[in-house]
Amino acid sequence: MTQTIGIIGSGLVGKAVAHLAIAAGYHVVISNSRGPETLSDLVKGLGPRARAGTVDEAIAAGDIVSIALPLAVFGTLPAGKFVGKVVIDQTNYYPGLGDFRRSDLDNGELTSSELMQRHLTGAKLVKGIHNLGWIHMQYNARPKGHFERTTLPIAGDDAAAKQIVARFIETVGYDVIDTGSLADSWRIEPNTPIYFWPYVPSIPESLTETEKKKIYQNAGKPVSPEAARKLVAETRRPSPIGGTLEGMPPVHIALFLELASANTVQK
Ligand SMILES: NC(=O)c1ccc[n+]([C@@H]2O[C@H](COP(=O)([O-])OP(=O)(O)OC[C@H]3O[C@@H](n4cnc5c(N)ncnc54)[C@H](OP(=O)(O)O)[C@@H]3O)[C@@H](O)[C@H]2O)c1
Repeated sequence: MTQTIGIIGSGLVGKAVAHLAIAAGYHVVISNSRGPETLSDLVKGLGPRARAGTVDEAIAAGDIVSIALPLAVFGTLPAGKFVGKVVIDQTNYYPGLGDFRRSDLDNGELTSSELMQRHLTGAKLVKGIHNLGWIHMQYNARPKGHFERTTLPIAGDDAAAKQIVARFIETVGYDVIDTGSLADSWRIEPNTPIYFWPYVPSIPESLTETEKKKIYQNAGKPVSPEAARKLVAETRRPSPIGGTLEGMPPVHIALFLELASANTVQK
């Protein structure tokens, strides 16, 4: 039976997941904060299996719902509509960006996905497709058995939901390792060994910025399930907790800023 992926957020990550899902044969209902009418070009590009909706419509339609918005706005998600839903939490905590900061996250009392799960009480939350940049999220996907297929970690408290999300991620192009519960998910958060860097191609320092960007956008790195398990096993709790721009590949930041300024000009 064809499944529908409801996506909340139509930015870099929401679009990447929409493309992955469509390419793998799923239907998609994608939403954002500004309303479905702002998504007509995007859904046209995605093709007939995609449509735009409100946040409520994306939740209602989704056999799986992807949360692809800034963690800072988690409290705006309509918790009651998520009851019984299998959810992929793609968000990450970046306390230095914007003004969203919480001591329970900073102190390691809660992982960011536990925070999300506490808000979405009735949902079955699985952290996943969150630990690589939007470019490699799409670029690194490979069919099962391909020599360049790479591996993504998931974490969650509901075994059946983890199986459903793992099947989705495997279908769109990745091997999956289960890294435990939402409380354990600090092992796969920003600034841990499995975050971002393992999926990024090696780029010689001697190249120009343009050459570096070209390589970054047109190459990835496969991570085997064994290598992914080893990275997670060797993880120590990061200090400070949360992502930083300095902790990310410089080319990623350069491309991100380039896009951000292009969007500002368009608006
Ligand atoms: N960028 C990456 O490479 C990357 C990789 C892995 C994980 N992540 C994580 O994924 C999440 C999304 O990142 P992103 O880079 O895709 O962000 P982004 O490009 O800024 O997009 C954010 C999207 O969220 C939507 N949004 C914001 N507030 C909303 C609300 N209250 N209700 C509904 N939609 C809302 C925005 O809607 P409008 O378009 O209408 O403003 C926008 O479409 C973040 O938590 C980030 O940490 C990012």
